[in-house]
Amino acid sequence: MLYLKKESDKMIGVFDSGIGGLTILDELIKINPNYNYIYYGDSKNNPYGEKSEEELMNITSNIVEYLKSKGCKLIVIACNTATTRCMKKLRVKYNDLIFVGTVPAIKVAYDKEYKNTLVMATPATIESERTEELIRDYKRDDQNIYLVPCYGLANAIENKREKDIDNILKEIYEEYKDNNIDSIVLGCTHYPYIKKEINSYFKDAELLDGANGVAREVKRQLELNGIKELGSKGTVKIINSNDSILT
Ligand code: DGL
Repeated sequence: MLYLKKESDKMIGVFDSGIGGLTILDELIKINPNYNYIYYGDSKNNPYGEKSEEELMNITSNIVEYLKSKGCKLIVIACNTATTRCMKKLRVKYNDLIFVGTVPAIKVAYDKEYKNTLVMATPATIESERTEELIRDYKRDDQNIYLVPCYGLANAIENKREKDIDNILKEIYEEYKDNNIDSIVLGCTHYPYIKKEINSYFKDAELLDGANGVAREVKRQLELNGIKELGSKGTVKIINSNDSILT
């Protein structure tokens, strides 16, 4: 019994509206291998990026409660939409848990001194106060930042609808092809799956995502909160809302 409790202390919960957060999970395991992970892919409620904040709070609260019931002390919100819309409120509501979120990598574009940056994200992320804050804090005076709400893109990726993906990218390219785009922030964790397709339009742009930054922040929080590693590599359990109910 005691042994089980100790093991669950080292459990890290991760969630997203489907497959997107797996791009973060890979990096988490690379940087913090000696922990057990439970990943909840909420495909049933995809897309998050076109839902109201109230709906998102209900959905994410249910997932947090589920992960908490499985013994997670630290929860990674592997989704820009849920982070920018809900993380502040979730931190207040569940003040016994540690949350690490994912935000568009606008700071990375700042650090690398890019001049013309596209920020691709869901409509909910683009319209969030958090994105506004990031631009206020990290936009260079000599930098143009173009915000692109990508309606339907995360859902097309989740359901592997290649034609829809191509149509959306073509439309974005037509609008920004004359803006000398040198960097694209992938502000949704589903977008790293289509890096090749994005680069086939914007050939000279560097694609930026926040996965490494999230994994390093998790490492810092684990140390800060004294959540010690297991003696060896942990386990990874992946579940999906299409196959399960949150009980
Ligand atoms: N992968 C998510 C994000 O990072 C959400 C996509 C969606 O469900 O709209 O924003």
